[in-house]
Amino acid sequence: MENLTPEDLYPHDQDHYGGLSANDALAERASIRRDEHVADFCAGLGGPARYWSRRFGAEVTGIDLNPARVRGAAELTALVGLEGRVRVIEGDVTRTGLPSESFDVVVSQEAFLHVPDTAAALAEAFRLLRPGGRLAFTDWIVHRPLSSEEADIMWRGIAAQSLQSSDSYRNLIQTVGFVILSVDDLTDEWGVILEERFAMYRKLREETLRQGLPAGDEEFYAAYGKLVELMKARVLGGGRFSAEKPIR
Ligand SMILES: C[S@@+](CC[C@H](N)C(=O)[O-])C[C@H]1O[C@@H](n2cnc3c(N)ncnc32)[C@H](O)[C@@H]1O
Repeated sequence: MENLTPEDLYPHDQDHYGGLSANDALAERASIRRDEHVADFCAGLGGPARYWSRRFGAEVTGIDLNPARVRGAAELTALVGLEGRVRVIEGDVTRTGLPSESFDVVVSQEAFLHVPDTAAALAEAFRLLRPGGRLAFTDWIVHRPLSSEEADIMWRGIAAQSLQSSDSYRNLIQTVGFVILSVDDLTDEWGVILEERFAMYRKLREETLRQGLPAGDEEFYAAYGKLVELMKARVLGGGRFSAEKPIR
């Protein structure tokens, strides 16, 4: 555990689909530049935050609701010597308490579906950005409204509670005051990843059961299987959105 570098952590600290290349795609959409101040909404263990700092020289402040993740992020960041450039603070992205117009970029990956009030999170991003600042995020989306049974599966499977369609996201982003720069549909990309991941989970579970060890909650696997089906049927999907706060 001595002399670790951020690169040593990359296989373990990215909690989103597509790993480092997803970070690169988001950085490209947000045009992250050296020494810019970046806020990472729902930063998790701070993996992407450390990556953006290391790769692009940004100063990154992550915000996460879960105190255990915030503690973990601090430990990992200190282990790789980035504590001067990266911090993850405990907070709710709908009201961070951070100063207005103090960031150049706000990013977020696969997390807004867990935040009940999506508009409030986007409005908070708008408030934190200086004029000309950029927002870029990925999230799960729906291609048609979910039935109540499907919505229940999403809630039990991945704690999704505020799924937007691509159009409702466009409306929300613009209503808050941003100008949209790009919208990418990631549904096919994520469908493949999700299927592979589910196959891996099932294989590990079978091995665990064969050894007579506790192998997790059946309900989780049933819900996950449904998610894969919904993604393959293009009911669920993924989206990447970027936008700019206009210069007054
Ligand atoms: C799927 S993880 C993504 C982590 C990180 N973005 C990454 O790519 O590694 C979602 C994260 O959102 C956080 N979260 C959920 N609701 C939040 C809120 N209202 N404010 C801040 N963080 C929140 C959770 O604690 C969790 O760490």
